[in-house]
Amino acid sequence: MRKILLIGMGPGGPDFLTVQAIDALNRATVFFLPDKGAEKAELREVREQICRRFITRPEIRFVTIDIPQRDAPAGDYRATVDDWHAQIAARYRQVLIDELPDDGCGAFLVWGDPTLYDSSLRILDRLRADGLPIEYEIIPGISAVQVLTARHRIPLNRIGESVTITTGRKLGAAHHAAEDTVVMLDGDETFAKIDAGDTYIYWGAYLGMADEILIAGKLADVASDIQRVRREAREAKGWIMDAYLLRRSDGGA
Ligand SMILES: C[S@@+](CC[C@H](N)C(=O)[O-])C[C@H]1O[C@@H](n2cnc3c(N)ncnc32)[C@H](O)[C@@H]1O
Repeated sequence: MRKILLIGMGPGGPDFLTVQAIDALNRATVFFLPDKGAEKAELREVREQICRRFITRPEIRFVTIDIPQRDAPAGDYRATVDDWHAQIAARYRQVLIDELPDDGCGAFLVWGDPTLYDSSLRILDRLRADGLPIEYEIIPGISAVQVLTARHRIPLNRIGESVTITTGRKLGAAHHAAEDTVVMLDGDETFAKIDAGDTYIYWGAYLGMADEILIAGKLADVASDIQRVRREAREAKGWIMDAYLLRRSDGGA
């Protein structure tokens, strides 16, 4: 049976790979590279660096999978994403059948951790449910959340408290943050639109990369700085990846 490894590669560069991930890189013979058409050269370079640095077996191949563009959500967000996943699954199915021998081992290098805001796992599940005989393994990776808290030298949770992980879209719809909230996938600077109250923000962009930027402080004081720095950085590099933790300041640790 075909085997697929979803290898968590961490959120920024080769230094984040675990020993398990390096071993997995050397078990696969075919590397699938999903291409959304918009991936920046710098991000592709990170994947290439990882492969160059850690793969020691000579007989490997790279296969690009063209990913269709997602339609703009018209009303039902979930239905739009579901349709898009069905189209991606169809592409994956064809490429896996064409490019991976029946008993072959292929791999996807997944940004951060494969179980956090990433669809690769759902798409493989869908293929299996549709009858494609594949098995898969997930190699956990360090997520952007872990690098964010490590760089700011803060615990992710306060003693005995819970943490919400959400998206800019969800935070925007809620108009306020739960007690401790990590926000990812926020292209709309939602932190600047919610009720700041006595909330602190710990913000990071390009975490783990050479251009990493960190800003922390009372949201009301630093929101406009973050917006300015964020826009300048995105303008200069042509892309940005950022995440932040919102924490109500009640004196808890
Ligand atoms: C599609 S999600 C993938 C998350 C990934 N699976 C993980 O475990 O970190 C992409 C979002 O993760 C966050 N992210 C990923 N890498 C990042 C980085 N190096 N610096 C800042 N944020 C990052 C951003 O919020 C970005 O919009």
